Amino acid sequence: MLERLERLPVDPILGLMAAFRADADPRKVDLGVGVYRDDRGETPVVKAVRQAEQAVLARQTTKAYVGPAGNPGFNQAIERLVLGDEHPALTTGRVRSIQAPGGCGALRLGAQLVQLASPQSVVHVSTPSWANHVPLLSGSGLKLARYPYFDAASGAVNFDAMLAALQKLPERAVVLLHASCHNPTGADLSEAQWRELLPVFRDRRLLPFIDMAYQGLGGGVVEDAFGIRLFAAELPEVLAAISCSKNFGLYRERTGSLIVIAATAAAADADLSQLVRIARSIYSMPPDHGAAIVQEILVNEGLRSSWTDELTGMRTRITGLRDDVVKHLAAVCPDRSFGFIAKQRGMFSYLGIDASQARELRDKHHIYMTDDSRINVAGLRRDNIPYFAESLALVLRS
Ligand code: LMR
Repeated sequence: MLERLERLPVDPILGLMAAFRADADPRKVDLGVGVYRDDRGETPVVKAVRQAEQAVLARQTTKAYVGPAGNPGFNQAIERLVLGDEHPALTTGRVRSIQAPGGCGALRLGAQLVQLASPQSVVHVSTPSWANHVPLLSGSGLKLARYPYFDAASGAVNFDAMLAALQKLPERAVVLLHASCHNPTGADLSEAQWRELLPVFRDRRLLPFIDMAYQGLGGGVVEDAFGIRLFAAELPEVLAAISCSKNFGLYRERTGSLIVIAATAAAADADLSQLVRIARSIYSMPPDHGAAIVQEILVNEGLRSSWTDELTGMRTRITGLRDDVVKHLAAVCPDRSFGFIAKQRGMFSYLGIDASQARELRDKHHIYMTDDSRINVAGLRRDNIPYFAESLALVLRS
């Protein structure tokens, strides 16, 4: 039976990761997978994570099951990190959350919940969006559609087109939004634009499904949660998929959360009970280790402040790299402006070159990026930015 299955091509992002590892050229530059790197090109374990991990292991007396909703202490801490301690949705008891296997697990749980509540729902996803949004969301059985988002000419959000498209959606459509550090473009909604979207969601009774995978890596922990906090305060229902992979550096520990803001406390309880059943039917229970670490960091003042400092360092480094790369590109490609890179936020930017040029950078210059020319800015280092800029200039001239 299994012989009938055809062999699939590798995942565009994870395939690049493997190809980079196999490349022996010392000049190689990894701008592919969205993983934070320091100035030595490494992804070190965050200091607070290392300390929290030791405390968790020293205290641990059992490996017995935690339960399908995961660690209650983690769930509570992450709700507060995302929404803020005194958020009205929290104080009125409308928030429930379930620990998930990474942000991906959270996205899938949210999609399955929508599918149960309203199987005909369509999820509207930005053009472009993270490639894995499509299989994660449509795997639940929901249909997907697109709304315009990015203006390639300016490198910013094409807000007028986005707003006009959302205004035309049928009532109760689901709209996937990126909280911050839009993947793959780095073009974020401003606070004013979030405010402008709010009445559209309210009037058309749209369900916002907000993906927050980079809290703290764009403008700051509070700044990046602006849209979620606003929508959760003003709308009856919001779903938020949270990832701790990047901001806590817990990639392989698969740590995330699906937060549900429901119209009433009773509805929130019902939604959580459904989510627990969904989780049980897919993977039964989430892995414990990463969530225990995050909980430890968020409740311990010293660890939290060490984590906040390190996160600020990551964000500042990315911003500095953005400025540096724009300067170098201006010197070697005077006919083309890359100034948009400095205005975007988070790990990603689109270079705006075509797939054959992206492949030429990979094949001739050992610079790895996805074919759509998404670069992980954090993969650059001060010492390889000149090489990157010169290689790009060569490709643009060829
Ligand atoms: C990325 O976009 O590169 C990351 O989110 C990693 C992944 O799983 O694709």
